[in-house]
Amino acid sequence: MPKSKPVNVGLIGAGRIGSFHGETIARRLVDADLVAIADPAPNAAANLADKLGIESAYTEAADLLAHPGLEAVIIATPARFHTDVLVQAAEAGKAIFCEKPMALTLEDADRAIAAARAAGVPLQVGFNRRWDQAFAEGRAAIDAGKVGRPQLVRSLTRDPGPFGADPARIPLWTIFYETLIHDFDTLLWLNPGARPVEAYAVADALVRPDFREKGFLDTAVVTIRFDNGSVAVAEANFSALYGYDIRGEVFGSSGMVTMGDVRRSSMTLFDKDGVSNDTWRRDTDHFIHGYTAQLASFVRAVRSGKVEGPTGEDARDALTIALACIESVSRKQAVPLR
Ligand SMILES: NC(=O)c1ccc[n+]([C@@H]2O[C@H](COP(=O)([O-])OP(=O)(O)OC[C@H]3O[C@@H](n4cnc5c(N)ncnc54)[C@H](O)[C@@H]3O)[C@@H](O)[C@H]2O)c1
Repeated sequence: MPKSKPVNVGLIGAGRIGSFHGETIARRLVDADLVAIADPAPNAAANLADKLGIESAYTEAADLLAHPGLEAVIIATPARFHTDVLVQAAEAGKAIFCEKPMALTLEDADRAIAAARAAGVPLQVGFNRRWDQAFAEGRAAIDAGKVGRPQLVRSLTRDPGPFGADPARIPLWTIFYETLIHDFDTLLWLNPGARPVEAYAVADALVRPDFREKGFLDTAVVTIRFDNGSVAVAEANFSALYGYDIRGEVFGSSGMVTMGDVRRSSMTLFDKDGVSNDTWRRDTDHFIHGYTAQLASFVRAVRSGKVEGPTGEDARDALTIALACIESVSRKQAVPLR
């Protein structure tokens, strides 16, 4: 069979995760070429282009979308720009990989889904945990019936500490829109076929109590009831001093699967202080294989037109729970999910 030509991908947003995704396309995937980068921040696109040996750097997404031969884009701008950039890319006929959250309102989620559908372009969203080997095997065990009927489902995100960001620069409700949105997608995905019916969320500023009055929340627990009777718990905290801790668990009528391990590897040190392991400290280390598998699947979707991973509709479902959590914290009561 003749080797197919690599897919031409453009990167929109050359910040922390965009730079990593750009590097994945440019260096870790043979089926894709990174052909252009756009970012309005001074020199952001040019510096990354220089580092990765890419010729075309733009400050405007519109210019990148007009780049000759471009087939697909990765959108890694801050969340508030995702929908507008996504619609622009769809109207330009490009296949789209959009970082989470795809949108911050249901109206925007619908607008994004409609734009991709109208243009007939694939739309995949960056819920990368689905591509992590442990999580993928967990879901396969559930599909194979090994866990039985799910009864308790759990997903947690503890970002590595010490928390060093300036809370004043973090948008309100980030813990739900940007952090727990991963867990909401995971809980929905690990409970296939079940629909969430109610969410109750409790959140506080325990890491930075000095910012509580300003509405910054760094710790949250969410319970979700599903229409199959199962109950799920999601939790997050921005400062786990021992490392980057991402875990999932499904307990059912026939057994249990657990996923995720904060330990970097099976290397265990035995010394005068006892027994110890190194732990993950960065998402891009922990999930390097999952992030790469996710973009490999996107490249296949560009070729086949068929999205294998989380879709725009999946992003809307996770957002629905995030919005219910925000309402739940504000009103201090459980919120029904339509
Ligand atoms: N899936 C994951 O594990 C994961 C991890 C990190 C971040 N993210 C998501 O990725 C997104 C970006 O996060 P980040 O940490 O890289 O942010 P960042 O602030 O480091 O980078 C964002 C970049 O986008 C640029 N930008 C702003 N407006 C733009 C526009 N209109 N067009 C092009 N570029 C624009 C900024 O100049 C900046 O360089 C967020 O939505 C975040 O939630 C996902």
